[in-house]
Amino acid sequence: MYFLKMENIHKFYGSVHALKGVNFEVAMNEIVGLVGDNGAGKSTLVGIIAGSIPKTSGKIFVKGKEVEIPSVKAARDLGIEMVYQDQAVVETMSVAKNIFLGRELLKPGLLKLLDMKTMRKEAERITKSLGLNIASPDQEIRFCSGGERQGVAISRAMYFKAELVILDEPTAALSIAGVQKVLEFIRQLKASGTSVIFISHNLYHVYPLADRIVVFSKGEKVADMRKGETSIEELEHIQISGKRISS
Ligand SMILES: Nc1ncnc2c1ncn2[C@@H]1O[C@H](COP(=O)(O)OP(=O)(O)O)[C@@H](O)[C@H]1O
Ligand SMILES: [Mg+2]
Repeated sequence: MYFLKMENIHKFYGSVHALKGVNFEVAMNEIVGLVGDNGAGKSTLVGIIAGSIPKTSGKIFVKGKEVEIPSVKAARDLGIEMVYQDQAVVETMSVAKNIFLGRELLKPGLLKLLDMKTMRKEAERITKSLGLNIASPDQEIRFCSGGERQGVAISRAMYFKAELVILDEPTAALSIAGVQKVLEFIRQLKASGTSVIFISHNLYHVYPLADRIVVFSKGEKVADMRKGETSIEELEHIQISGKRISS
């Protein structure tokens, strides 16, 4: 059973043909590693899924039902959440406020007062369960490292029970320890039943975690393989040449 299925997706930015009839699927509780050179169309594809980029044509199905994803809110309502490297969080807001940003918990009653106490408690619970060592839910995001910020964004996705979480180059600007932390968050997302699309141009970050690896080149999907059907050497070759070794 697929969570997401995309058929014959095209995207034009003016005269730039960024996606050329792409078919792409994500199964339930599957980690899909998406790799390929700069400009291959990876961010465009996930932007279409996350509701931040409109497709030119093609069909999208979520759990077998055809959908339109015209906005980030529409994507969220379908259980799709994107974790951005930087924009996910507001620098001067606390960890707790960032996790609940736009979806704040309210106290019962007509006054619509923010239930800060519950939000702080829940923020602490979810960050702890992810193994994120943040001193307090009141800590401002600007005092968190790059890896911790992504942990906060993943906490958001987990709290609101996203069914598909997308990470676009989450390891790009991180220290070695930060990379390990983000890879561990992705493992925990999988353990919690979520599907994940993990984009990186570093195959060595993607390969150990992914159930399936998809390679893009110049707007086309050039490989789509279960991990057991391929090797990191073959994938590296495909990524560089845009072609499979055999067949
Ligand atoms: N907003 C945009 N306007 C015009 N061209 C764009 C825009 N965004 C991306 N592109 C072009 O679309 C192609 C795919 O880009 P992108 O999806 O960002 O690739 P990747 O994430 O694989 O590096 C590239 O040729 C890029 O220059
Ligand atoms: Mg990109």
